[in-house]
Formats: sequence, structure tokens, C-alpha cells
Amino acid sequence: MPKEMLNLVDKPLIQYTVEEAIASGCTQLVIVTGRDKSPMEDHFDVSYELERTLEDRNKTELLELARSVADLASIAYIRQKRPLGLGHAVLVTKRLVGDEPFAVILPDDIVDSEKPAVAQLAEVAERYEAPVIGVIPIDGPEISRFGVAAGEEVEPGVFKITKMVEKPKFEEAPSNLAIVGRYVLTPDIFAHLEATGADTRGEIQLTDGMQRLLGERPMYARVLEGTRHDGGDKLGYLLATFDFALKRPDLGPELIAFLRERLARIDAER
Ligand code: G1P
Repeated sequence: MPKEMLNLVDKPLIQYTVEEAIASGCTQLVIVTGRDKSPMEDHFDVSYELERTLEDRNKTELLELARSVADLASIAYIRQKRPLGLGHAVLVTKRLVGDEPFAVILPDDIVDSEKPAVAQLAEVAERYEAPVIGVIPIDGPEISRFGVAAGEEVEPGVFKITKMVEKPKFEEAPSNLAIVGRYVLTPDIFAHLEATGADTRGEIQLTDGMQRLLGERPMYARVLEGTRHDGGDKLGYLLATFDFALKRPDLGPELIAFLRERLARIDAER
């Protein structure tokens, strides 16, 4: 099963991604898939067998839910035939994206915020008529797990980028602004991705392509509001699950009671 189909409480990660894109005003979605990723396509498809069963059993609420998933958006799927990195994954969408600004969302990065993350970026992109990437401050060695953007703050939380580097050593990181998986880009990125060579791991990095684009036009970084979880990491995924479940009126109270009881037991055993 692709990791994008892992459930966060009761919806797969990819559905949060799709919902964020729609809530941010995206009208056409492209999901880059690969080997073994077809369950994603099925998830957003009409499920006749399921609908029939639910109809027969008069499960109206669940039926509505199943139908609403299929009606979410117009989604195109394109396969990335070889795992050549994020920059390459973006590049395979070139023809489908065409000549318009577009957003990139990585399902692993969960951003839980009142205003959807892509909408936060789009607002800045419109104001400056420039590409904008989402960042969060990370102090300490963990920064080297991210692309890093450095720049000059032009308004609270918005930086005019001077440099971007993919996964620098902690000592060499040009700032504490870690790039999280949200980008609003312009189609001129594609030519730069085509010109970007593979790195030492054999991957084409989006960060490297963006650094090239920076030589040509201003770009901005916006510190995202909200809570970010790393859904691609075991602990991060677990924390996200608790965080989302604790907020749910149907699950939160019992989960809190369970956690209280467990914590009391742990304390007593100490
Ligand atoms: C990718 C990007 C990196 C970014 C990260 C955010 O890396 O290449 O710049 O900081 O996503 O999650 P990955 O985590 O796919 O290695």
C-alpha cells in the first residue's frame, strides 16, 4: 500500500492533500503516481460495489461520504516511471500544468492550519507576483533534513529569498528556515528543472531547480501558520494521529481519558 494511503484518524493522507488544494482554490489536480500507487486512483473513483452495499443496508450517511470523495475534484494522474527525485516528479507534470502558476503539495508534510497552507502562499504570490515557498523555523541539527531558504524579511513572516540549498550540513545551513512541502510556482521552473542535473544520490532536486530560477526572478518564502507534522516519519505520523484525534469531539474525550489512565500508571510504576 502506498504511504499516501495511510489513514490519519479516518482519511488517507492523500485526501487531506486533495482537500487542502481544493480549499485553496485549485481547480485541476495532478497526482504524480508510481509503481504500486494505484490505490490512490481507486480511492478517488466512484466505488459502485461499496455504494450498492451501503444503499442496500440503508447506510445513508456513509453513502454520502463515499460519494463526496468521488466528487471532490477533477484529478489527473501521471506516472513518474523512475524515482528520480522531487524535481523530476514536478517535471513530469509539465505538459499537464501548461502555462499557469501552480502549487506543489507533498502529502507527507501535514500542515494543520485554519487557512490552508497553499492559500497562505497563494496570497503572498499574488501580492508579489512571484513564486512563494512555505517554510517553518527549525533551530538545531534537524534542519539538515530539509531544503533551507535564506533571505531578507520584507514583512512579518515573509522573506525575499537570497539563497536555497537542499539538506545542508547543520553548520552550513544559511538560515533556520526549513522548506516544508508547500510551493506556489510559475511554469518557468520547468526549464530550470530540465537543466538541473542529478545530485550525488541520482535525484533531481526541486530546491536546486528553484535556486537556478532565483537567478532570474525574485522569489519569496512565507513562514506557514499552523502545526506541521512529518507524516513520513513513524513518530511524526503517530503525533499527527493523536493531534487530529484529540480535536475530534467523537474521539477526543475518550482518548484523553485513556491517555490520563496510562500516564497515571506509568507514573505509579516509576
Ligand atoms: C523534500 C525536499 C526538501 C524539503 C522536504 C520537506 O525532501 O527535497 O527540500 O525540505 O521535502 O518535507 P524529502 O523529505 O522528500 O527528502
